[in-house]
Amino acid sequence: MEKVELRCDWPTGCGAPRRKRRRRGKRKRRGMTEQRQLLTLLLWWRKNVEQEGEEAIVATSRAKQRGRDSPTWKVWKWQTCFHSHDPAELPDMNDPLIDHSEGQLFLNEAFKIIIEEVLCKGTDVKQKVCEWKEPEDLALLLDLELRAAGEPQQRLLQRVKDVAKYSIKTSHPRFFNQLFAGVDYHALAGRFLSEALNTNLYTYEVAPVFVLLETEVLRSLRQLVGWTEGDGIFCPGGSTSNMFAMNLARYRLFPEVKSQGLWAVPRLTIFTSAESHYSVKKGAAYLGIGTDNIIVVKVDEGGRIIPEDLEEKIELTQSQGAVPLLVSCTSGTTVRGAFDPLDRIADVCEKHTTSGCIGPERDRFKSVDKLLLSLLKVNYMLHVFCCVFQAAWGGSVLFSEQHRHLMKGVARANSVAWNPHKLLMAGLQCSALLLQDTTNLLKKCHSANATYLFQQDKCYDVNLDVGDKTVQCGRKDDCLKLWLMWKAVGSIGLAERVDKAFNLVAPVIKERMIKQGTMMVGYQPLGDKVNFFRMIVLSTLVSKEDMDFFLDEIERLGNDL
Ligand SMILES: Cc1ncc(COP(=O)(O)O)c(C=O)c1O
Repeated sequence: MEKVELRCDWPTGCGAPRRKRRRRGKRKRRGMTEQRQLLTLLLWWRKNVEQEGEEAIVATSRAKQRGRDSPTWKVWKWQTCFHSHDPAELPDMNDPLIDHSEGQLFLNEAFKIIIEEVLCKGTDVKQKVCEWKEPEDLALLLDLELRAAGEPQQRLLQRVKDVAKYSIKTSHPRFFNQLFAGVDYHALAGRFLSEALNTNLYTYEVAPVFVLLETEVLRSLRQLVGWTEGDGIFCPGGSTSNMFAMNLARYRLFPEVKSQGLWAVPRLTIFTSAESHYSVKKGAAYLGIGTDNIIVVKVDEGGRIIPEDLEEKIELTQSQGAVPLLVSCTSGTTVRGAFDPLDRIADVCEKHTTSGCIGPERDRFKSVDKLLLSLLKVNYMLHVFCCVFQAAWGGSVLFSEQHRHLMKGVARANSVAWNPHKLLMAGLQCSALLLQDTTNLLKKCHSANATYLFQQDKCYDVNLDVGDKTVQCGRKDDCLKLWLMWKAVGSIGLAERVDKAFNLVAPVIKERMIKQGTMMVGYQPLGDKVNFFRMIVLSTLVSKEDMDFFLDEIERLGNDL
């Protein structure tokens, strides 16, 4: 093991920050102890210089002069600084512990690595999408253990590199694994800015810019849905948006649920297709509605809800004394990309909505024992229906003149959950829950009125304190990345992305294929789904190589698309 001697006079030419040198001077004036000098020096050395296999020998010039610079004495001093309860021996409370100029230098270097490894290599089709390692090997390689002492900058930069290297490159043109992919640089700038500003979107006083931004982005998204007014909130993902929608639907029918819990509600049912996202199931379990109370509606050959089956199932559950709570439709199902027929489903919902019965009927229901009700199978009423549209990935078709017909009828929904982090590439996470409601349902349902945050006598309009509309306390400003990206490319640019994702690729590949004469195959959309290549294998001449060629050739022709 190499031994390195450190002296209290800062080593010259090795990058000791000027600010630190000045501070050291100040401390001397305040009578900085030798131990503290040693501690500071040792901390600085460990953070900035220490190499593997080195051991520090710390010596102060004064200690040297007094002949007390033996390594044993120094190590003892080092330990007493940490373990002593004598206030004079404790580390200086004025020491900020974080060195900002050092930190900013580190960040600059880390950014270079991020740009090179994640953004340049990560989007280069010639590079790999993933660098597979077995979990045990990867754990070893990453040296996961967290230790008592910090590490030097160079080693930390290597760690940044390793994390980038062994992570999946979701911006790679051949990452097709999930419903998010790609990178938008303006949105990414927004994401970096959010991280750097590190604020909490609950009150205007702590997030003035983001409260206004979120309000505007939600308004613009609602406008695309076709609502001139309403409400909404950015949520941590589409699953949460869907759960919030369920909770709101229940609260709208049974506001007592907020204080009385499940005692206040009868058996509730949710209607959705087997192709809807699993978050509906999770939500039912989480909210105490129960997964058995999800009524699965049949779908047609294209994976779309059959409205006639929905109607039958609604009537059946009502005859069993259950209360239909909501219909959860999907615009762009997770696996097949199907769009449920919203207009026809809204017709069914409206037919089964008898708003007039809400008051007296509900009071009658409240006064009867829940168990008794279910035993008697009283067909007691029809409730206001909440039609929730999950449009986590498909919602973005609303930008496109050409494709927005897929969501015809969406304006008749009560709520829409929309993930711009999917088709629009806003970056994880960006998920908006939009509501047609103008009665402040979100806030009434989720608020807890914490007095340390949401005082009512502030110097500005307290309606700007949007944080009580969610079940979270702290909340990220997910609106910023979408706002910046939207500003950068406009609604037209976002529509172009949707159009390209939906239909541009197949015609371009076909054009190139014909012009180069390498093969011939037709394409077409399937129902309301995007184009697919319709390969017909009839000839006895077709070999396995021809099949391989087909796939390789499609890939080659569409390589840059
Ligand atoms: C239709 C639909 N709803 C909800 C979700 C869940 O969204 P998140 O992953 O943001 O929770 C997905 C995810 O793929 C989805 O496809």
